[in-house]
Amino acid sequence: MHGMKHSLVTIANLEKEKIEYLIEMAQEFEKHPNRKILEGRVVATLFFEPSTRTRLSFETAANRLGARVIGFTDPKVTSSTKGETLKDTIMMVGNYADVIVMRHYLEGAALYAAEVSPVPVINAGDGANQHPTQTMLDLYSIYKTQGTLENLNIYLVGDLKYGRTVHSLLMAMRHFNPTFHFIAPRELAMPEEYKLYCREHNIRYEEHEDFNEEVISHADILYMTRVQRERFTDLMEYERVKDVYVLRAAMLAGARPNMRILHPLPRVGEIAYDVDDDPHAYYFEQAKNGLFAREAIICDVLGITLDEVRGDRTIIHV
Ligand code: CP
Repeated sequence: MHGMKHSLVTIANLEKEKIEYLIEMAQEFEKHPNRKILEGRVVATLFFEPSTRTRLSFETAANRLGARVIGFTDPKVTSSTKGETLKDTIMMVGNYADVIVMRHYLEGAALYAAEVSPVPVINAGDGANQHPTQTMLDLYSIYKTQGTLENLNIYLVGDLKYGRTVHSLLMAMRHFNPTFHFIAPRELAMPEEYKLYCREHNIRYEEHEDFNEEVISHADILYMTRVQRERFTDLMEYERVKDVYVLRAAMLAGARPNMRILHPLPRVGEIAYDVDDDPHAYYFEQAKNGLFAREAIICDVLGITLDEVRGDRTIIHV
């Protein structure tokens, strides 16, 4: 099969140079998001799980670059309800499209799809495992707001057990000498496998349960997460932990001027609305950065280089 080589399944496979390269490409697309560099291509978006940002920003990226989009937002309308396997679905869509963007509820589904696919597969989230394109937009957001990815104090808050975005982020940051602080209730603590990953890659981390103004005052990046109701088998446990950490504007009085609040969104209550007008809030801009990061990722998996993007004469000036 030909898809695996160019697929983006896990952030763990991206070297430092590749991350920096994709950030440079995202910068190019932010300067000129509308081009026809993908004219004649077809992008498939297969969403076996709900999404707002990831699907719409991928589809916007494809549309703004001149590609056409096929796909589904709900597997109930596909032949998987008749028993068609993921392998056969991927083989079929690989006959129609040049690249497959897939979100799936099973950990490992993206790797499996990439292994069987004739075209590149982009992992748009597989269960509680990985969300590498979210990580690229997170890294782009961190770079834009801090001017660097190096030597930052990054506080991850909330559901660190099921939150695939924090798992991918800590793996990507291994290249940049971060200090992580994991703030979670015991039930949602960072899983041992990721702490082991930190130790193996010399990533410093501390674990806390306190979340207050003093803790926040040391952060460069405050990365809030939603408690993921859909991953709980025991809803009583969800009710117990869902509102443990709520960020309010009053807690930001001592924050560093450079500190920015990120959240992959959607939020359900962990960031109060009074934070939205605070200059440290960055989560809506972060989501906007997803368009540029995903334009870069689609082009990269299709073999379009940064030099080609820089030399592109198909820019549409609006
Ligand atoms: N951040 C994120 O993955 O959002 P959606 O679930 O809306 O795609």
